[in-house]
Amino acid sequence: MTDATTARPPVRKAVIPAAGLGTRFLPFSKAVPKEMLPVVDRPVIQYVVEEAVDAGIEDILIITSRHKKVLEDHFDRLPELEDQLEAKGKTEEAATVRDLFSLAQIHFVRQGEALGLGHAIGVARNHVGDEPFVVLLGDDIMAPEAGVLKGMIDAYQQHGSSVVALMEVPKQDISAYGCAAATELGDRLVQISDLVEKPAPEVAPSNLAIMGRYLFTPTIFDEIEATAPGVGGEIQITDAMATLLQRESMLGYTFTEGRFDTGKKGDYLRAVVEMALARPDLGPEFRTLLGEIAAREGLSGGS
Ligand code: UTP
Repeated sequence: MTDATTARPPVRKAVIPAAGLGTRFLPFSKAVPKEMLPVVDRPVIQYVVEEAVDAGIEDILIITSRHKKVLEDHFDRLPELEDQLEAKGKTEEAATVRDLFSLAQIHFVRQGEALGLGHAIGVARNHVGDEPFVVLLGDDIMAPEAGVLKGMIDAYQQHGSSVVALMEVPKQDISAYGCAAATELGDRLVQISDLVEKPAPEVAPSNLAIMGRYLFTPTIFDEIEATAPGVGGEIQITDAMATLLQRESMLGYTFTEGRFDTGKKGDYLRAVVEMALARPDLGPEFRTLLGEIAAREGLSGGS
């Protein structure tokens, strides 16, 4: 691995897969995409897009499906609403609506059939071309202070390898995730030596789980095309990454908190509470409310 930082192309593009069936969030997700679940006053996908923009991404491709047209509407202009808000003197609200369109260049492409996360990322091939790019799962919020995506882009600029976000989970939970075998490099980075999708805890090579953020060199697209359906009959990105590992070095960027998998009910509720508490306009009032509920329910403060 070299450190010729100046030789790397910039990371300008992001892919956000949002075409999954959302079966864990039925019946809500029958007619409304789970990526549109509200966290306080914004849909989940808006947090994801804003995270990419904050990390310096200029071009975003959202992978969507025929049942999810509302995702496109959310990032489109709505002149009649903007005009009505302006006419009522609601300038701030009008700007909130208008600004969604100019957050970044946002494009949409359909997956056609939900054949798995690997397949969804593969759909981005023509749009991404021959550049490094990041992938952010469309139902996965990262707290801004976790700084995960920025850290991953810095690691790429330093080392030139693909990078994946990793977090330690209790061993018994590893079978819900892609799992990495890795050795410490320092500065939150690990060198990945193997990857397995959803291993049983007894055979898992570690308790390091893949967590919703990836940075790939464009070589990944060849690997995705050569990947057969794996666990659950889906084309798994972890399987494509495992074969990429045989051709290229891959790093893990480790972090410990600030991630919410809002596609899971419990994590969604946690996201709503944590994000509301972090809001300067709502946090103090909400904290008092939570305190009252905790007292009524006889809950003691957790550690
Ligand atoms: P998930 O596995 O969390 O989504 O994929 P899912 O398949 O919709 O969820 P369940 O298990 O049925 O509840 C992570 C992200 O990848 C997208 C999802 O929309 C989600 O944002 N995804 C998944 C796709 O775009 N295409 C797929 O084929 C699968």
